[in-house]
Amino acid sequence: MLVLLKRDSEEISRQAAQLVAGAVRKKPGLVLGLATGGTMVDVYKHLVQLHKEGSLDFSRVVTFNLDEYLGLPATHSQSFHYFMREHFFSRVNVNPRNIHIPDGTIQGNYDQYCASFEEDIRKAGGIDLQILGIGRNGHIGFNEPTSSLASRTRLKVLSQETMDDNAKSFAPGEERPRCAITMGIGTILEARKIILLATGAAKAAAVAKSIEGPIASAVSASVLQLHPEVTFIVDEQAASQLTQREYYRRVLEMTALLTPDRLS
Ligand code: F6R
Repeated sequence: MLVLLKRDSEEISRQAAQLVAGAVRKKPGLVLGLATGGTMVDVYKHLVQLHKEGSLDFSRVVTFNLDEYLGLPATHSQSFHYFMREHFFSRVNVNPRNIHIPDGTIQGNYDQYCASFEEDIRKAGGIDLQILGIGRNGHIGFNEPTSSLASRTRLKVLSQETMDDNAKSFAPGEERPRCAITMGIGTILEARKIILLATGAAKAAAVAKSIEGPIASAVSASVLQLHPEVTFIVDEQAASQLTQREYYRRVLEMTALLTPDRLS
């Protein structure tokens, strides 16, 4: 596990975009796992900029988003389909046929739908690089605390904390999603490489538990300790409860010196 300590969200988003860009340049047909949320907005901004400058081609990239709210159509301004179109897909040249986002409008037969989403990932050759954010409660995707660490893509009931965090995005009185379709933790762990981004003091406890705490279903992101190629990129505030910050800095220096490929 690598822990990159950055000053602020600008540095984080720039670094994450560079890692994604490097991966796409190395493998133009990259299978890229994507996330939504406030942390990701500037990552997409930088990727769009690289594309507009002519240095990044997404035409062969295949994407799989982690999750979508149940009940929200792609046209709903709070849906993750809408988010992805606004911030990324309408601004770069990803082939629409290569875009996969769970469908929030399915009704019934959830298991069958989720199995077909998993099958699509398999048919694409598996996810090469998965980008993650993290919830205040340690969720990745919408794998809320106590999610099975072996879970697959499925219908998931949102925790109260997640619903509270999301409430500000919905108009007063508007019905808010209580469930989502999300890749499972087992699905996420199969990605060949994982990057998790965290900014702000509200994420500090979740980040510390995920990196330095025991692996527990109470903190879904802690399972990433089992993954051989995971990089946490955190800003000063989100890193404030980590006890081994000095060690992470030294690891980074030696990695840059001895195995620089690990950082690109
Ligand atoms: C979104 C997702 C979530 C978010 C997390 C952090 O696709 O999977 O796990 O990454 O809730 O969201 P922000 O960045 O808004 O704090």
